[in-house]
Amino acid sequence: MTKLEFLNLGKQPITNNFLKIQNPKNEFFYNLRIVFDDKTKLVSSAEFIPPEKMFNDTYAHRASMSITMQKAYKDLSIKIKERFNPKSVLEIGSNDGIFLKNFNEANAIGVEPCKNLADITNSMNIKTFDEYWTMALSKKIINQFGTFNLVYSANTISHIHDLNETFLAISEVLADKGVFILEDPSLLEVIRNTSYDQFYDEHAYVFSITAINNLVKKTDLEIFDVELLDTHGGSNRIYIKKKKNNIKISKNISKILHEEKENGINHFETYIKFANNVKKSKYELVEIFKTLKKSNKKIIGYGATYKSSTILNYCGLNNYFIDYFVDTTKNKQGKFTPGTHIPIIKPNDNIDDDIDYAYLGAWNFKKEIFSKEKKYINRGGKFITHVPSPQIL
Ligand code: TMP
Repeated sequence: MTKLEFLNLGKQPITNNFLKIQNPKNEFFYNLRIVFDDKTKLVSSAEFIPPEKMFNDTYAHRASMSITMQKAYKDLSIKIKERFNPKSVLEIGSNDGIFLKNFNEANAIGVEPCKNLADITNSMNIKTFDEYWTMALSKKIINQFGTFNLVYSANTISHIHDLNETFLAISEVLADKGVFILEDPSLLEVIRNTSYDQFYDEHAYVFSITAINNLVKKTDLEIFDVELLDTHGGSNRIYIKKKKNNIKISKNISKILHEEKENGINHFETYIKFANNVKKSKYELVEIFKTLKKSNKKIIGYGATYKSSTILNYCGLNNYFIDYFVDTTKNKQGKFTPGTHIPIIKPNDNIDDDIDYAYLGAWNFKKEIFSKEKKYINRGGKFITHVPSPQIL
């Protein structure tokens, strides 16, 4: 047995299951436990949730909702064109087309199992397969379109359970001189920031570079560059190529592998320490909420993110503590948060005048939110966050 459990985040719902009624019968819950594989160094959920329960035609998350992300993907596409000049682009997990729309639609293909999202990109003339990423799909795409110069996947590979098949299928679809760019939350940043909300049903894995390196080593692929991004509270952008492609391998890789080693990514004790920090974080966050409620403060949530679902359910922060969430995503509005049943409403131009505190569910967009909410801040309105430790801002 190489998988060692270090964290139990209790009873958790499906994060994408925004409820139509506040107290439904038979809501699905499972026990979210996190394990470390001391052989591969992969950190994952102990139990994988069937994909159909999470990625279906009512999928709520729209990547294009954030101005920050729209700009980030536009800038990235310019950078990719300058560095690699790809003739054809395949995106695995194309969401609402936020990345692919920056490329010529004749040479861009999407893979997106959530049909409501695939419909959006298909209507933008970006051919999109509403299927899960598998070897069978990889072969089908090759038969129709050949191999690709660029394969891109952000916040998706961590959702796929069978990583061996995933990487083999990517290797098949990637041209010999092609580049695969993978982005996912960084495990090192999760540990540094005690941002345990990166663990939720969809995130079957939270990756270190060390673990990805171990995985790709088993294929004909290898990492040739790595960048640390601010997105989603700290993500790795990993550049992968075929071993036979002689693109120069960046010194960044040995640097980051060394940094991860120094920070104990390879050792179970690191995760035990992290789990203790999580328990402390829960205690301190709940204390903040309890103290504020005792003095009759009015608290809302800002951004009903999937991430925040883990925090709310683990910390027992329900409608008693949080009056409602504001969220710009249309198909979350008028619904209730999974498990904790807090109403979600459409935001007004600014946080309402009767609100004293706003809990940052979307803490990863703090900058964007603070610049939007200047009026609230100027009148003395405060924010609550749990990252990097529970505090009032
Ligand atoms: P994400 O962290 O999973 O990308 O989700 C961000 C959520 O936060 C998304 O539902 C939109 C919401 N949001 C707001 O409601 N207001 C904002 O200003 C920002 C930046 C995000």
